[in-house]
Formats: sequence, C-alpha cells, structure tokens
Amino acid sequence: MRFAYFDGRLGQGNVTADQPLRAGGPGQLPGAPAAVIATTALTKRYPGAVTALDALTVTVGPGITGLVGSNGAGKSTLIKILLGLLPPTSGTASVLGTDCTADGTRIRMLTGYMPEHDCLPPDVTATEFVAHLGRMSGLPATAAKERAADSLRHVGLYEERYRQVGTYSTGMKQRVKLAQALVGDPRLLLLDEPTNGLDPAGRSSMLDLISRIGTEFGISVVVASHLLGEIEQICDQLVAIEGGRLLRADTISSFTQSSEVLLIEVEEGSQQLAAELARRGLEPVPYQKALLVRLAGEATYDAVRDAVADLGLPLNRMEQRRHRLEELFSDEAAPAFETAGGGDVR
Ligand SMILES: Nc1ncnc2c1ncn2[C@@H]1O[C@H](COP(=O)(O)OP(=O)(O)OP(=O)(O)O)[C@@H](O)[C@H]1O
Ligand SMILES: [Mg+2]
Repeated sequence: MRFAYFDGRLGQGNVTADQPLRAGGPGQLPGAPAAVIATTALTKRYPGAVTALDALTVTVGPGITGLVGSNGAGKSTLIKILLGLLPPTSGTASVLGTDCTADGTRIRMLTGYMPEHDCLPPDVTATEFVAHLGRMSGLPATAAKERAADSLRHVGLYEERYRQVGTYSTGMKQRVKLAQALVGDPRLLLLDEPTNGLDPAGRSSMLDLISRIGTEFGISVVVASHLLGEIEQICDQLVAIEGGRLLRADTISSFTQSSEVLLIEVEEGSQQLAAELARRGLEPVPYQKALLVRLAGEATYDAVRDAVADLGLPLNRMEQRRHRLEELFSDEAAPAFETAGGGDVR
C-alpha cells in the first residue's frame, strides 16, 4: 500500500459523518496564517549529486496554485517535502503554518495528496478503497463509507463505485486518486500531475473538477504540471520552477498584465532603434527579427513613433501583442518580463 502518508490520524475522530466537504471561504480557518505554503532556501540533493531543489524560496497564499516546470524540474520532490515525506537537505518548508520536518503528521492530517504515478490496488472496489483511506485519515467506519460515497459522487464515479479499480480506465483511476485525496476533508490538496495520461476531453474535465473543488469548497489547491498552457486556465497564481530554482511566482493576473507588449519591426536599423528606445527609457528586447517593449499606455506608442521618425527608419510592423504565458518562459522573451525579486504570491 503506497498511502502510508495517512499515518497518525486513525482514531482521532475529528471529522464526523455529517460534516460536509468543506464549503465556502478562501480555505482559511479563523486565525490561520495567510501563507498556505512557505519555503526558505529549500534545497534537496539526492545521492549521485542530483540537486532537485536549489535554494527555493517561495510563499503561496490561498486559492489554486499551478506548480509548473518541465520534467525533472523538482515538482514532485517539493510536494514530498511539503508532505513531510522527504527531509530537505537544507532550508525550511512549512505548510499551513506547520514546519514540514517538525510535524509531517499534522500536515498530512490537513492535506489531501494525489500522487503522480499509478498506485491503486486493482482488486478492490473504488468505494472500498476510498473508504479505507477515509478510515486511515481518522474517520469512524460509517462516516468513512458515507464520505467515500460523497467523494466518489463528486468526482463523477458514483454509479461505478462498486467496480474493481483494476477494471477502470486511466481517467477513472485519476478520479479515484482525487476522491481519496478529498475523503478526509482536507484544507489543502497537493495534486501531482492530475491530468497525466488523460486525453484532451479527460484533461479538460479533470481541470474543471479541480477548479470547482477550489472555488466551491474553498480548499486551497496546488496542481503540479509540466503543461503551462492547460494549468493557467484554472489557477489564481503560478509558481514556475526549473532545475530546482524559482523562475517566477506571481498571480495569474500579474503574469497577464506584464505580458502586454508592443512588437516593432523595422526593415533595417533594428540595433539603432533599440539604442534609441533605450535612450527614451524603454527596455527593448530582440524577438526574432523584431523588438519587444513592455506596453505602458499611450506613452509607449508615442515614444516608439518618435524614435522611428527621428531615425527615419522604414517601419514594417507595430502591433500590440499579448504573450501567452508559455511564451513568457521561452528563452527569447523571458528577459523582458522577469519580475524583480520575490517568490511571494500571497
Ligand atoms: N529518489 C531519487 N534519487 C535520485 N534522484 C532523484 C530521485 N527522485 C528524483 N530525482 C531527480 O531529481 C530531479 C527532480 O525530480 P522530480 O521528480 O522532483 O521532478 P518533477 O518536476 O516532478 O519531474 P516530472 O515532471 O518528470 O514528474 C530529477 O533530476 C530526478 O531525476
Ligand atoms: Mg513529478
């Protein structure tokens, strides 16, 4: 059984059968700290000189947070450290105000975890499995059964809950994994690549489900994914990591605002224009054959027009663009949009 992280909660009876899945509010209890997750200089080195996390400092507030990064970026390592399942090499991490190394058991009581890989026993029914996990998270037997039925209904598996998990499609298995993460009425969900293996329709309905869980139940959710394009649809904030380092952490709206740019393409004299724009206080960045400047209202248009006119350059193209978030991380465009300092998305 891979779900050993639910240890320590059995018999505490702090969740009752008639308690609904958490509803309303931003996922914060009165007096709870604003930061759902906070790390400081968090570093994890595996044997064999692999640095999976490299001095990662980030603070995440309530809501739905996308944890994005390519394969091997360190997403799963971070999640396991947050759950208190893996000790960091150095640095600190806390979840819901609790230090991950000091009290992992408490964190796992308050957190639902959906692991990345297939880890379901094939020869039990979904209802047996989810109820079992409910028992392990501290629910009495009857409550665990009722909560299992609720969770499976919520993920759309109610009709098929008496089928053996081994007979489920990949999409259904992902939903069972989500149901078991929900069964203990968590305050935080850590979902590791929940759309793994799903077709486009399955991805879209899984994202919709996660979004509804976040907004309707008011649970904070961290969704790890290497697909920035899909995750940006449902997240309030984004933490982007690469090679174990923080690339950027910000709210989705700031990502989008900062992505308003003006693309200027001249027939010749691009370097001259870049120098002139810089002289006028803009920060042009070469982008393919053109230049990009961050758009800050009419003044940007005026400055560009005057620079082009003063130099007498033949203007091919000037257009306002909204970069997709994915483009913000491309090598060419990234320098134009880096934010100063901080990984604070509270
Ligand atoms: N147990 C381990 N022993 C040695 N190296 C490891 C171990 N687990 C992970 N790594 C390495 O640490 C780095 C980060 O891995 P991690 O699984 O955290 O990345 P990830 O972002 O979750 O990747 P993916 O998108 O592929 O799931 C990778 O280079 C990986 O090979
Ligand atoms: Mg991973």
